[in-house]
Amino acid sequence: GNYTGGLRPQVHFSPPQGFMNDPNGVFYQNGTYHLYYQYNPAALVAGNQHWGHATSQDLYRWENQPIALYPPVENSGVFSGSAVTDPNNTSGFFPDQDDGVVAIFTTNYGDANGGSGLQTQDIAYSRDGGYTFEWYDQNPVIDYNSSQFRDPKVVRYGDEWVMVITFSQEFTISIFKSPDLKNWTFASNFTDAGLLGAQYECPNMVQIPTRDHDTGEEGEMLDLLTLSIQPGAPLGGSVTEYFIGRFNGTHFNPIDRATRLNDFAKDNYAGQFFYGTPEGQDPIDIAWASNWQYTNRVPTASEGWRSAMTVPRSNYVTNATRIGWTLVTEPFNIDAITNTTIEEKSWTGNGSAIVDYSQVESNALHFSINVTGINQTELGTNPTLNFTFMSPVSGESIRNGFLFSGDNPFWVDRSGVNGFVDDIFWNTKFSVADIYNGTVWNVEGVIDRSIFEVFVDRGIHAATVLYYPDEPLTLLSVASRDLSPNAKVDLAVWSLESGW
Ligand code: FRU
Repeated sequence: GNYTGGLRPQVHFSPPQGFMNDPNGVFYQNGTYHLYYQYNPAALVAGNQHWGHATSQDLYRWENQPIALYPPVENSGVFSGSAVTDPNNTSGFFPDQDDGVVAIFTTNYGDANGGSGLQTQDIAYSRDGGYTFEWYDQNPVIDYNSSQFRDPKVVRYGDEWVMVITFSQEFTISIFKSPDLKNWTFASNFTDAGLLGAQYECPNMVQIPTRDHDTGEEGEMLDLLTLSIQPGAPLGGSVTEYFIGRFNGTHFNPIDRATRLNDFAKDNYAGQFFYGTPEGQDPIDIAWASNWQYTNRVPTASEGWRSAMTVPRSNYVTNATRIGWTLVTEPFNIDAITNTTIEEKSWTGNGSAIVDYSQVESNALHFSINVTGINQTELGTNPTLNFTFMSPVSGESIRNGFLFSGDNPFWVDRSGVNGFVDDIFWNTKFSVADIYNGTVWNVEGVIDRSIFEVFVDRGIHAATVLYYPDEPLTLLSVASRDLSPNAKVDLAVWSLESGW
């Protein structure tokens, strides 16, 4: 692949060429992360689904690998699914090794027009650590004679394998169990929960730690169930939501009846948690940074590729002041790709900074802004922290800000970037009400040529925002105002290396 294009992310995964959607089968084994993905190598739009494959030691520097799974017959597609390692040979596929890998996925048998037909659950096994796969000769392993039954995600629970999967148009997540990945027994349904949209897709379940967001004190382990819905998201198209609860071996029981969204913008879908990461480490996920509403039209086609993944993110849940239980999401291990500190500046009261990063070869940055010592009784009339990325050449910009009064909105505005703004579904302004606690506030983010990810309040809120500028954004300006005379702003900006 050619990764030099002006819109090509440098610290995010994107396919060598062609079209990509969901991450699939993500797992970690012997120091290597494996990422498979929904892949059409032959066109710049979805269809003809294969499993593309890439590997990494740090989740930022990726090595493209040969395609891992091919459509088995004409007009079929290898749809989304998962992969597990099978060190104890529960499957029987690996008599002489402890690094066997099994992929569990949906085969979609399309109609003549490539539309959706029968969807069965199939498996394939790899004896070389995940690079090449053999189809199991007794597939399918689950068949309900349904055309809307897909996206199995398998995890280990106790002595068993547990699968979450959707009956998409029945708004049902089903749980199945197996001793060997071949024979599956129905265990329970989790139905009509959350926002329904028009279909349920790509469920995930993972054990997740709970932690005090301020003190870091550890609480009990809970289970997180994520669900992607599409079309019909509140902002249009695709969105991922989650439920916090307890899985008891057969049923998932949510701790409350709330629906919570992973992202307050609209370019984060079908995220998957890595299987096999070290015990005791917070779960890591990666998601497709796009939206079915417009993914087949975005302007990166001129560079021969479409779609990137989010940065890898580490996750825990917390019971936060004012908003209750919430997922906390932050970039994982970004230090691995950090080059140098290009700005560190602090000020008290009203102040500003301008950071010229035109010399950063990757055009990719990591930044953080911490505000401390805010005195609520001394806030001025328009207490704001605003920051803008812009191109001094074209005047294009992405503007962001937080208003420390009223509803405490944090907002992102991509309307100032030229590319694709005429698309009818390209919402350009996003906002979220923050849990602003009165004395401290924080925002952190990664910006990378055509993708911006922002994390508010140390990961309480996150947004994934695509943008397609005519000219690279190379200036960051930050300004604080009316935050009370003793409020201190600490800005830090790091350049990132290209992973390609
Ligand atoms: C989600 C999805 C999945 C399906 C795959 C096909 O984005 O629609 O439900 O398995 O994409 O590429």
